[in-house]
Amino acid sequence: MKWQLNPRLLALPALAALVALVGLRWRQSPEESITVAPSLPPAAFQWHRLPAPAGNATAPTRHPLQPPYPHPYRFLLNQPHKCRERAPFLVLLVATGSEDTGGRNCIRHTWGNESSVPGVSILRLFLLGLHPVFADALGPVLQEENAEHGDLLQQDFLDTYNNLTLKTLMGMEWVSKHCPNATYVMKADRDVFLNLDYLVRRLLLPPKTAFVTGYIYRKTGPLRSKAYKWYVPYEVYPNATYPPYCGGPGYVLSADVASKVYAVAQTLPLINMEDAFVGICLHALGIGVTDSPWGAFSMARIRYEPCRFARAVMVHRYSPQEVLELWPRFQGAKGTCEPSPVQG
Ligand SMILES: *[C@@H]1O[C@H](CO)[C@@H](O)[C@H](O)[C@H]1NC(C)=O
Ligand SMILES: *[C@@H]1O[C@H](CO)[C@@H](O)[C@H](O)[C@H]1NC(C)=O
Ligand SMILES: *[C@@H]1O[C@H](CO)[C@@H](O)[C@H](O)[C@H]1NC(C)=O
Ligand SMILES: *[C@@H]1O[C@H](CO)[C@@H](O)[C@H](O)[C@H]1NC(C)=O
Ligand SMILES: *[C@@H]1O[C@H](CO)[C@@H](O)[C@H](O)[C@H]1NC(C)=O
Repeated sequence: MKWQLNPRLLALPALAALVALVGLRWRQSPEESITVAPSLPPAAFQWHRLPAPAGNATAPTRHPLQPPYPHPYRFLLNQPHKCRERAPFLVLLVATGSEDTGGRNCIRHTWGNESSVPGVSILRLFLLGLHPVFADALGPVLQEENAEHGDLLQQDFLDTYNNLTLKTLMGMEWVSKHCPNATYVMKADRDVFLNLDYLVRRLLLPPKTAFVTGYIYRKTGPLRSKAYKWYVPYEVYPNATYPPYCGGPGYVLSADVASKVYAVAQTLPLINMEDAFVGICLHALGIGVTDSPWGAFSMARIRYEPCRFARAVMVHRYSPQEVLELWPRFQGAKGTCEPSPVQG
């Protein structure tokens, strides 16, 4: 060996660990008691320590793509009374950007219409975060939209692609805290065509528990190239594969599962892919996913055909404006393709 190890240097790692431990203690206690002030505009990125295992001072730091969690995000817009008088059969949670009032209006008039399944109670809510640039200007606009429709949920996290997991968890939190007597929860993106009538009659009746369905991905893994929008760094998720999960554009959970996903998410490191993260929660819970009938959830855009769409739950890559255009044709064709096969 060319160099001699100074015994005093050996003490350094232990000292560093002690300092980190003390720092951690110092950080933890105030966080528990202080109600975190809303950060409008949100504070710049800060490294955030994940809770370290007891007695372990080598706590990992948070990668910038890892959504900060758990964190007491505040509801800026909430609907805590919606389930006091009724127990919805299906809570439809639609992820939209806060600036997207136009898209939400199209959805309200088409697949997001709460009366779209006769005799079945549907509750529609939109999931919003804070616009990274225009949050202040959009505040009053959203207040007004919410006063008119009463269907916005918003928390004070930055609404970015890599924070979508926080949006989904906000929806699961809402169901768990304010609507525990719902039967099912569906999470949908804005760029889909949905056929809730078919979903309810073909897949959801009679009511089930411990049920999860959608377009199932199996044995896929994180993309490790920074060039992708779907890049997941090793530090955020080290395994080469994800547990089975449902594609994000549209998936359904029985409401008991939605509450359990929210609960277990408090204990797991988040990843920046919301759909794969729900799969990770299900894996931790030991809850399996159920394959849907072939073609029921189409991740690829398919051309509009009345009888094909009558037997689809979800078709991806339709803008709300396109759906608004084809909706009257879809409604008009209803009945001409039936009877659709009903699950026994
Ligand atoms: C501390 O945590 C690291 C990483 O999680 C682990 O590899 C190590 O064994 C732990 N050390 C102790 C003393 O628990
Ligand atoms: C649903 O649950 C809420 C909260 O627990 C409760 O207040 C409400 O009465 C329930 N509604 C129905 C229709 O059961
Ligand atoms: C929702 O559907 C019902 C029943 O078809 C209809 O009367 C109502 O106008 C629709 N609402 C919207 C916002 O389109
Ligand atoms: C996610 O939201 C948090 C809280 O607003 C913010 O600090 C963080 O920068 C956001 N992350 C990304 C990748 O946008
Ligand atoms: C990651 O891999 C480890 C080791 O094979 C395994 O125990 C764990 O369940 C995996 N986690 C997930 C979320 O698949």
